[in-house]
Amino acid sequence: MAPPAPAPAHVLVFPFPLQGHINCMLHLATALVGAGVLVTFVHTDHNLRRLERASASGSSASPSLRFLSVPDGLPDDDPRSAGGLLELLQSMRAVASVAYRALLASLLSTARPTRPDHHDGGFPPVTCLVADGYLPWTIDIADELGVPVLAFPTSSACSTLVYLSVPRLFELGELPFPAGGDLDEPVHGVPGMESFLRRRHLPSPFRPVGENGVNPRVHVLSKYTFHSGKARALILNTAASLERPALAHIAPHMRDVFAVGTLHAMSPAPPAVASSLWREDDGCMAWLDGQADRSVVYVSLGSFAVISREQFMEVLSGLVATGYPFLWVLLPDMVGVSQDAVFQEVARAVGDGGGKQTRIVEWARQRDVLRHRAVGCFLTHAGWNSTLEGTVEGVPMVCWPFFADQQISSRFVGAVWKTGLDMKDVCERGVVERTMREAVESAEIRWSI
Ligand code: UDX
Repeated sequence: MAPPAPAPAHVLVFPFPLQGHINCMLHLATALVGAGVLVTFVHTDHNLRRLERASASGSSASPSLRFLSVPDGLPDDDPRSAGGLLELLQSMRAVASVAYRALLASLLSTARPTRPDHHDGGFPPVTCLVADGYLPWTIDIADELGVPVLAFPTSSACSTLVYLSVPRLFELGELPFPAGGDLDEPVHGVPGMESFLRRRHLPSPFRPVGENGVNPRVHVLSKYTFHSGKARALILNTAASLERPALAHIAPHMRDVFAVGTLHAMSPAPPAVASSLWREDDGCMAWLDGQADRSVVYVSLGSFAVISREQFMEVLSGLVATGYPFLWVLLPDMVGVSQDAVFQEVARAVGDGGGKQTRIVEWARQRDVLRHRAVGCFLTHAGWNSTLEGTVEGVPMVCWPFFADQQISSRFVGAVWKTGLDMKDVCERGVVERTMREAVESAEIRWSI
């Protein structure tokens, strides 16, 4: 008699509860399901409710992919905005960690789960965990419960390498930067990047706080990155062809390293399961259909950036001066003024008949937008998902980085991959206009991996 077939692998995936992390992890989950693996995907209670509200069809899982949730520990009416990132990190560690540990213990045993909605769904015990880079304690919980774990920071290899280089940057005296010092000074302490890295390209927390003070986030994020070395392997959503040198420099710090991206390009479009925390605007695809080839500037600053009214006006004026039609994703709380005021400013800037030229939406199906023949340029904050999505579609990017890994991604786009232009954190209408024109008109930076 043939031996019984082994139970399929069952992976527990738990993203930090922000859109960029959720998208990337869900692409990984979809790829695993495609390879015959069962996946339990853990959201926070708050986000699971939001996903259900935002999606017309609900987050329909396949029989091999199910969604469970744990509390994030914040009150329901907490905005969970960029300014509150530290609170979210702390409350995930204090509250979500306890629920997550209990969930994992229940999924490892044959005993009944601790929550009635956490039914076993016929899934065998969990065989592997995926640990988000912002949730390093999930590696410790996996260790404690004897489950193999893969560390998965949802950002690039180059930003991971920068955080691994923090001790060296201190040794060389390149950290801390002097307060008020020149941000264009070269930085030599990150291996492989000596020839083109400047202070301004390091992730935003590296900029000094107070009188020559180091932002505590540098130490925290560096510690988190080194902690990945305790996992069985580090996986990164990148392509070896894109980041081979950085991957080679990371390898000595980890037990193993794998470039598993670009994940979104391996997932079906439209996605089989809903992942947007905001309702997607259905009309913008039809609007794009009415525009000429490669004529539209698509503007999206991701899910977390906030801009001042002055910055908004500079970008708007620069865009209008180009004469290109534009599609702009503006979340309701993204500009420091009301959404009505935003619409009034846009109407004033584009004048009569401008409606044909502009479309402002709360959220778009970005991947479909970037694939549309009408899109000729992507003004992006250089979040890692957006950078990969723009790169894969070969849409020239203008990068306007805000925080975290966005500065270094922006530098790589402009100087190494040459898939777009780095506008740095300069936001001035003349620069916006000039850079946008250059991106749309240059055939050289239209490229695809
Ligand atoms: C954040 C950080 O900025 C990023 O650098 C980090 O690596 C992950 O977390 P976020 O700021 O939201 O993410 O940017 P990004 O990484 O680009 O992720 C945004 C995601 O939302 C992308 O997958 C994008 O396709 C999607 N999106 C954005 C939409 O689907 N519709 C939109 O209208 C805007």
